[in-house]
Amino acid sequence: MRDPYGRDVYDLRIQVTGRCNQNCIYCHSEGYSSGCARESFRDLLGVGDIRSVVEAASECGIRRVKITGGEPLLREDLVDVVWAISSTDGIEDISMTTNATLFSDKIVEALHEGGLKRANVSLDSLREEVYEKITRSKRFEAAVNGLIMCAEVFSLVKINMVLLKGLNDGEIWDMFDFARNHGVVLQLIELVDANKGGDVFGEFRVDMDEVEGGLREKAVGYYLREMQGRPKYYFKDGGVIEVVRPMHNSVFCAKCPRIRLTWDGKLKPCLMTNDVIDVSTALKNGASKSELKKLLEVCIAARKPFFSLTVV
Ligand code: 5AD
Repeated sequence: MRDPYGRDVYDLRIQVTGRCNQNCIYCHSEGYSSGCARESFRDLLGVGDIRSVVEAASECGIRRVKITGGEPLLREDLVDVVWAISSTDGIEDISMTTNATLFSDKIVEALHEGGLKRANVSLDSLREEVYEKITRSKRFEAAVNGLIMCAEVFSLVKINMVLLKGLNDGEIWDMFDFARNHGVVLQLIELVDANKGGDVFGEFRVDMDEVEGGLREKAVGYYLREMQGRPKYYFKDGGVIEVVRPMHNSVFCAKCPRIRLTWDGKLKPCLMTNDVIDVSTALKNGASKSELKKLLEVCIAARKPFFSLTVV
């Protein structure tokens, strides 16, 4: 389905929990402040609810689903969630964003069997003390081991590295070597202003022009993905770096195909907006597929490019 700006909406990002076992200094909690502490089992969408929304979404043109959190692995029924999504007609691709600290070989296998094809692993630093400072947790080793398990099983794994000035911005090439050695793609992510207490954005923001300038000097190839116009750089010995650069980027917004579902059943037209459309009441009342489709249509109709003009 197209939104009022002509954008094809084919991607649904589902926050399966608001809880996390880390507390990253920059986390935007998927743009939904009603996160960890307040999560109640009563409000958490069940597997059946998620399935109902995905079935309706598929009929509205959704073809790709990304599972996010919080940390998705904190949900005990995550494998059931994955099966519910993968067995829905019309869903061609399921991936997941995770910090990988809770993986075991058994869980990775079960997720893979359930239809999970790809994983994005958050790993902001290869230096334990920096990792601990960013994530405010002591799980560096678990994250690296989890990443390696994913790399062995999934067909595509990306490292999500949010660039933070003075913390990890000097580590890009070390991380690139690490990613290449493990056969995974490095994804450099621009810090999004999440309106956290204090001035995280002002303090840690990295100049992405400089970063991309550095990549261009060493790259042998360059490609712009259809997905949010994200640049992808290719290097001589086979490594790949992708850049996610949303801030003040009108091209990113113009090419955004995504809507979101929060852990407690709110549809969000954009990461950056606080306007939500409630589906939880409809789900509690046993809404039909056509009623859910109407709510998805309301969400798609409410989409506006957040950054609509780049000031140069
Ligand atoms: N800026 C950029 N990316 C963020 N993420 C979370 N918060 C932010 C932010 N403020 C993304 C990172 C992380 C994933 C879980 O969410 O990619 O790896």
